[in-house]
Amino acid sequence: MAKVTWKGGAMLAPVPPALVSCSHGGKDNLITVAWTGIINSDPPKTYISVRPERFSHSLIKESGEFVINLPTSHIIRSIDFCGVRSGREIDKFAVCRLTKEAASAVGCPLVAESPLSLECKVTEILSLGSHDMFMADIVAVDVDEHYIDENGKFRIEKCALAAYAHGQYFALGKKIGSFGYSVKKKKK
Ligand SMILES: Cc1cc2nc3c(=O)[nH]c(=O)nc-3n(C[C@H](O)[C@H](O)[C@H](O)COP(=O)(O)O)c2cc1C
Repeated sequence: MAKVTWKGGAMLAPVPPALVSCSHGGKDNLITVAWTGIINSDPPKTYISVRPERFSHSLIKESGEFVINLPTSHIIRSIDFCGVRSGREIDKFAVCRLTKEAASAVGCPLVAESPLSLECKVTEILSLGSHDMFMADIVAVDVDEHYIDENGKFRIEKCALAAYAHGQYFALGKKIGSFGYSVKKKKK
């Protein structure tokens, strides 16, 4: 099968359409961010890349904090909305009827409807071109106890996680393996 070569582009997929909360000067806001990921395990570090013209950019720059709320199918409409409307004009928490919850280590709120939130403190800002990359330490993780089983395990497969790929949202559904299963010995 022949492959056609295109010029370089941001075509990695799927990625999480993360719902990022931020706050500064008494103003709480939400922004959808697909350009995010983990960049180190220990200490746990992440990044979000945000265009300087976004309202959220100044809130995050001024406060040095943000929260990444994992996206689910249940709130995907709100996630899209927070990615096409600006907090300059509206209160996205109110319009989307999303519930603010106090974080433990940062001043901006968590989104209660998200099953897992990463509280982040910015350590570095890199200007890359179209976007500024906010590198951050993940200083706390908040998990909805509804998804923690009797053995203390986070049952992520029950969260109805959503993914984003080339302009479209998808519901993650079928588990097709687990870490290291390809080399695991079969039980006799
Ligand atoms: C699925 C999706 C992913 C997005 N990813 C990013 C991103 O990674 N970085 C960014 O700066 N904007 C991204 N956006 C656009 C912002 O979310 C959008 O401009 C938003 O309205 C900005 O809100 P604000 O002005 O309240 O900060 C994305 C939008 C959508 C719908």
